[in-house]
Amino acid sequence: EKKISPAKVVVLGEARVGKTSLTYRFSSGTFNEHQPSTVDATCIEKSINVNGNIVKLVIWDTAGQERYNALNQVYYRGAEGAVVVYDATDLDSFKKMNQWVTELKNYLPAEIPIMIAGNKSDLYNNIAIQQEEAKKYAKSQNSQFVATSAKTGTGVQELFTTLASRIIQN
Ligand code: GTP
Repeated sequence: EKKISPAKVVVLGEARVGKTSLTYRFSSGTFNEHQPSTVDATCIEKSINVNGNIVKLVIWDTAGQERYNALNQVYYRGAEGAVVVYDATDLDSFKKMNQWVTELKNYLPAEIPIMIAGNKSDLYNNIAIQQEEAKKYAKSQNSQFVATSAKTGTGVQELFTTLASRIIQN
């Protein structure tokens, strides 16, 4: 019988970068062009097979809007992995990512794996941050970059599977 290990994951980043959309694309394979903003946070569970191990990811999708920021600290507790999302068409959301990463490091042990998702990669005519730059930043934070699109699904499986495999190696 296979072992099932639950792992809590938090998804963070500025408002409207696509945190909820990535979570839904991963958990149910769907996408909503008119996804409403998250109030507070929502939690979804999805089990995946990582090299024969079943990992149940318990994903906390937090609200990016400033007025909810203080609440996020509650969701960090006990997290074993994190995804920090920016919108690849929005330079500001890339720059502000450092605040989320710094905050994460304040609340979580240093060895917790962090993934960086450059989302909305489908909008290739409007990309504001080159992938090389994002990779460099991710590396400097001992993190891993994946270009994603919640709309097309590109990179979404890779994002969460890589995180899950880093969690079970931890
Ligand atoms: P908050 O809850 O406000 O923090 O937002 P969020 O980060 O959860 O973003 P959300 O998933 O609500 O997406 C915001 C908007 O961007 C929605 O209109 C989505 O349809 C759109 N969106 C999300 N991901 C993508 C993507 O990969 N490509 C494109 N083209 N649009 C996307």
